[in-house]
Amino acid sequence: MSIKILALGGDGIGPEVVDSGLQVLEAIAGTISLKIDIGEDLLHGAAWDAHSTFIRPETIRAAHESDALLVGAVGGPKWDHITVDGGPEEQDGLMKLRHELEVFTSLRRARAYDPLLSRTPFRPEVVRNSDVMVVRELCGGAMFSDTRGIDGTDKNRRAYDLNEYTEVEIARFARIGFEVARRRRGKLLSVDKANVFMAGKLWREVVQEIGANEFPDVALTHFFTDNAAYQLSCRPGDFDVILADNLFGDILSDQSAAISGSLGMLPSACLSHLSAGGRSEKPAIYEPVHGSAPDIAGTGVANPIAAILSVAMLLEYSAAERESARKIEAAVASTLEAGFATPDLGGTNTTQEITNEVIRQVLRA
Ligand code: IPM
Ligand code: MG
Repeated sequence: MSIKILALGGDGIGPEVVDSGLQVLEAIAGTISLKIDIGEDLLHGAAWDAHSTFIRPETIRAAHESDALLVGAVGGPKWDHITVDGGPEEQDGLMKLRHELEVFTSLRRARAYDPLLSRTPFRPEVVRNSDVMVVRELCGGAMFSDTRGIDGTDKNRRAYDLNEYTEVEIARFARIGFEVARRRRGKLLSVDKANVFMAGKLWREVVQEIGANEFPDVALTHFFTDNAAYQLSCRPGDFDVILADNLFGDILSDQSAAISGSLGMLPSACLSHLSAGGRSEKPAIYEPVHGSAPDIAGTGVANPIAAILSVAMLLEYSAAERESARKIEAAVASTLEAGFATPDLGGTNTTQEITNEVIRQVLRA
């Protein structure tokens, strides 16, 4: 079997962690006769500096022709002030890719690792064994609204971003969330602000209906988002799958990283469908949840674990290599148990030392 991958390091520490992910991928591919064909290109700020665009048309074409994309991170103060013509997706190379590939579902997993419990803000007994999957809508809502702008003058300006969801958008996304819950512990918590927003009311109604009609075996509950955030910080171990719109999912996925002890630990898969066999027919994007961390870029100490775990998700959802995915996850856990840690986790190891150890553990398994 072979798989075509487009690697887009992006900005800051992005290229460094993508490089680690690819090293792990190549190491494991050799053991399972998986042929990988890797293309590389620039994204967002790096593309801007080289080509004065956040993403070139040929990059988008290559993305459509790939099975999977491995993205590092995008953005940084150097490019924050730049605005280009067009909608929100034009302002960010990664958002443009999500929009183009219509990967409307992001799976973002946060787990508690025993060796890192003391790095979390929680008491060990509160956080131990927590394993939360935030399923975030990724192509809609206020973040992708075309009804947006700043108008007026002087002290009378007005800014707006319409938070809009269609029933079709909610339904196609919710089905994937239910499916993910079914494959895990069968619990789905849908979050919304149905007490205030019309978009929240429709959200709740549609999720409720799909749950009752198509997934009666999944235990569905609804929380208002503020309460979900509070409960997540009090009893993270009770959560399984959280279903959230684009904005709430962005916030709650960063918040859930506290369970792991660092934002540098969270992988994600951005999908337009969940294939039963684990071989996505459409291109999917795999990316760490963390940002580009320009302050530590180039110093060789970025935590590569989120990118490495994103490679595990790639193997699971785009290459039908579930067993290899489990091997990488186990290798990451053993690496932490052996005491390896980058500075964000309180250690002194470099990106490459962590990568080498994960590879050693993968090949030993
Ligand atoms: C994320 C990031 C992005 C988002 C930014 C870089 C546009 O925060 O992937 O969570 O908000 O989606
Ligand atoms: Mg975010």
